Amino acid sequence: MMKGALPSILDAVGHTPIVKLQKVARHVKSEIYVKCEYLNPAGSMKDRVAINIVDDAERRGLLRPGGTIIEATSGNTGMGLAMVAAVRGYQCIFVMPDKMSQEKIASLRGFGAKVVICPTAVEPEDPRSYYSTSRRIVEETPDAFYANQYHNPANPEAHYASTAPEVWEQTGGDFDVFAAGMGTGGTLSGCARYFKERKPGIKILGVDPIGSLYYEYVKTGRLTKPFSYYVEGIGEDFLPSTMNLAALDEIVRVDDKECFLMTRRLTREEGLFVGGSCGAAVAGAIKYAEATGMNEKILILLPDGASKYMSKIFNDEWMRQNGFLDAPDPLGVVADLLARHPGRKLITARRGDTIRKVIGMLKEHGISQVPVLDGDRMVGLLAEVDLLNTLVKAESKLDDTIDSLVESDYATVTPSTRVVLLRNIFNDAKLVVVQEGDAVSGIITKIDLIEYLAERRVA
Ligand SMILES: Cc1ncc(COP(=O)(O)O)c(C=O)c1O
Repeated sequence: MMKGALPSILDAVGHTPIVKLQKVARHVKSEIYVKCEYLNPAGSMKDRVAINIVDDAERRGLLRPGGTIIEATSGNTGMGLAMVAAVRGYQCIFVMPDKMSQEKIASLRGFGAKVVICPTAVEPEDPRSYYSTSRRIVEETPDAFYANQYHNPANPEAHYASTAPEVWEQTGGDFDVFAAGMGTGGTLSGCARYFKERKPGIKILGVDPIGSLYYEYVKTGRLTKPFSYYVEGIGEDFLPSTMNLAALDEIVRVDDKECFLMTRRLTREEGLFVGGSCGAAVAGAIKYAEATGMNEKILILLPDGASKYMSKIFNDEWMRQNGFLDAPDPLGVVADLLARHPGRKLITARRGDTIRKVIGMLKEHGISQVPVLDGDRMVGLLAEVDLLNTLVKAESKLDDTIDSLVESDYATVTPSTRVVLLRNIFNDAKLVVVQEGDAVSGIITKIDLIEYLAERRVA
């Protein structure tokens, strides 16, 4: 063995630097530091997860020599697994949603893996979804091992055993907040557990894209209606068991435009050649720092690099077409839609209101659903049909409270969410609720959207 050489590329995973941001966060009191996990050999922090998942499967006898590793992956876990498979002599089959960049797909194929593409716009339980397809392929493939990063404890454990101790060794725990994007939750749950065992006061900040269901679930305990967004690797439309939401102290939401503009700034101003979820994590952490005004040390994990996003985030044409550069999106944003009804009063019910009162409210204002608030915070939705059902079945009386009838068939957006993203939202949701911070600032019904779009088409 040559002096200074490593036995294999797998020994080069980890030992990534932590760097202080110089420019993009100059306006906040907090100091912001980033851990450059995008410098791992197969391109992301998922290299650590891949090694741990394969080691664990080998130990348990779930993966035998010559076996096939199968995974439903948005790319990075696939790259890590493909690298481990190449070194240790396994086959790989990856199942991916169709919104993933061509570069990600080509890279996996470059490692010799098979890639199966599935439609994004179907429910997770649909047989065509990438979750269902991967399960079917596992059943049909001899000597298959399903890596299952969404439910495999070896995913968060990788961060508990590798990422977090490394951060601790590098920093001695000299930071107040740890921030990361929320995907499977492996990073946040694993790191949070390690950090809190050593420094219980440490704050864990999760960053979630608008369209994902985490934010609303953390705030209200409701699984509202997810909708699509462009940033890759973060946000979910179901709750993976690898995500421990109880570990979170704070959660912030970011939209695609914020993520992508920050990603470009990180590269151009800080020299950090990173991907979209890195922009998301930094934009989210800056929002948090702006809101607190505190002087804290915030450490952000940067998951992957820029090269996979050349045809998207780093392509001006793509950015312009999608309304992410200066040119406004032709369909406008939610604030434009709300501006069509300047004097419209927001009608809301309150937790504890009686059924009788809310029926009166719906009748008086000629509306068929209302957001239900507790203080300023939205706790759910109440629709005419819910009241009707309970009264028809004689399950409630008019003087009962509405609390047990409040439901989750709504989606939440912010005033800067692009209207184009609302295109399929009413297939699932009864109502779109517009929130600024935690407060409800407006609602959008199906007919509001139809009228707005019809006017734009005429113009
Ligand atoms: C680019 C990117 N960013 C962030 C994440 C989220 O990390 P985690 O799954 O640990 O929550 C992922 C996970 O797939 C990712 O690929």
